[in-house]
Amino acid sequence: MTQDELKKSVALAAIDYIKPKLSSDTIVGIGTGSTANFFIDALAELKDLFAGTVASSESSAERLRSHGIEVFELNSVDNVSLYVDGADESNHALQLIKGGGAALTREKIVTAVADEFICIADESKLVEGLGAFPLPVEVIPMARSHVGRELVKLGCSPVYREGVITDNNNIIIDCYDFPINEAINIERAINNIVGVVTNGLFAERPADVLLLATQQGVKTLRA
Ligand code: A5P
Repeated sequence: MTQDELKKSVALAAIDYIKPKLSSDTIVGIGTGSTANFFIDALAELKDLFAGTVASSESSAERLRSHGIEVFELNSVDNVSLYVDGADESNHALQLIKGGGAALTREKIVTAVADEFICIADESKLVEGLGAFPLPVEVIPMARSHVGRELVKLGCSPVYREGVITDNNNIIIDCYDFPINEAINIERAINNIVGVVTNGLFAERPADVLLLATQQGVKTLRA
């Protein structure tokens, strides 16, 4: 299977995983990216089985609406039962790097609210140690240089992602050459830099389940 076929297969596996959990008052949190897009397209068939969604990006919201799926503001819902999203990397503890698509802050907010976080990914995303994928950091624009200097002190090589503005009107700095051994400490240290909105490490709140598409089928991993 190609990588896209793997992504589609895991999106369909996520549909099977969530279907028994849906009821008329269920709100489903929706991630961002190509794997999440396959999930959104498949979710359209189930739209009468749940109340609606909250989206982690404007692009996902637009795709959901194009399928006639209701999209609520997060502040207008009481509870998000399930959150389904992709990842750029996952370790075996289901700690993730996310934000390759620049949606990390809203993804992290929906993750924080959700009862269950189901990560969907193809097998290329499972790694022994996080950090080969450059870690994205969302930054208030006027703090770009300050945050860059502080990131160097933490031991990485920061690179401004040119031409990218997030849904929150901020910028992205990607941290290269940054082996992530103590993920929770690094997540906290970066978030503690003034001017950082958040970073793409999902370590304090890892995924609950990783559905991983392999050439041998979809595997279910738990931390
Ligand atoms: C979006 O900002 C990211 O966190 C995505 O979830 C991540 O980049 C995975 O994207 P793909 O599903 O396109 O690989």
